[in-house]
Amino acid sequence: MDIKQAIKERHSVRQYSSDRIESDIRIKLENLIRECNNESGLHIQLITDDPECFDTMLGHYGKFSGVNNYIALVGSKNLSNLDELAGYYGERIVLEAQMSGLRTCWVAGTFGRGKCKAEIDAGEKLVCVISIGYGLNDGANHKSKDLSKLCGVAEKDMPSWFKEGIEAALQAPTAVNQQKFFINIDGEDAVIKAGFGPLTKLDLGIVRYNFEAASGHKCRTV
Ligand SMILES: Cc1cc2nc3c(=O)[nH]c(=O)nc-3n(C[C@H](O)[C@H](O)[C@H](O)COP(=O)(O)O)c2cc1C
Repeated sequence: MDIKQAIKERHSVRQYSSDRIESDIRIKLENLIRECNNESGLHIQLITDDPECFDTMLGHYGKFSGVNNYIALVGSKNLSNLDELAGYYGERIVLEAQMSGLRTCWVAGTFGRGKCKAEIDAGEKLVCVISIGYGLNDGANHKSKDLSKLCGVAEKDMPSWFKEGIEAALQAPTAVNQQKFFINIDGEDAVIKAGFGPLTKLDLGIVRYNFEAASGHKCRTV
């Protein structure tokens, strides 16, 4: 499966089987996480075999079940773009997981923050987590806003790379499916702007990763 297919097939999955993540897949994810941390300065961690973090009122309220594994997105509060970095690298890991047969869900609210087993060093913060495991279902397509609300370029004027990027951006997960971003073209570059409100910078990083992975073009964020 290639990355574009993974972007298309990825949906939030909140119910998981009790199967442990196969060891070769786990090693692959841990290697990728190490690479992401080296590149970004983040302190992302994969926590496995810990049912407690989602076995809370909030976790049940969020309709999560069988969550035994999660990725903790941790990083220094001194990083000015901490949320955007967490979104960008988290989505890279999410798509690798999807290609390995795992299912995921980004979770900023409905989990037991105080029960998270990740190592959070002095000066660091837990941005959010991503549940991960073998899904009991594959999730479903989310509703998307009209293209004109999310993009400043008419479809007929889009270069093919930009069109690929936009399609992937529309498929990106955003908090409560808010899709508060706007994408434009500036010469050879795509530019993504975050809207106002909670978690929009985290969403921005996620959307940027999807856009870049599908289009093969780097894009700027503002
Ligand atoms: C930053 C972020 C935070 C999220 N937090 C939660 C959460 O606390 N609980 C939950 O059930 N889903 C959460 N989600 C999942 C979104 O509701 C979901 O991504 C969105 O509705 C789009 O659906 P899809 O992921 O299936 O495409 C979060 C998603 C993102 C990107």
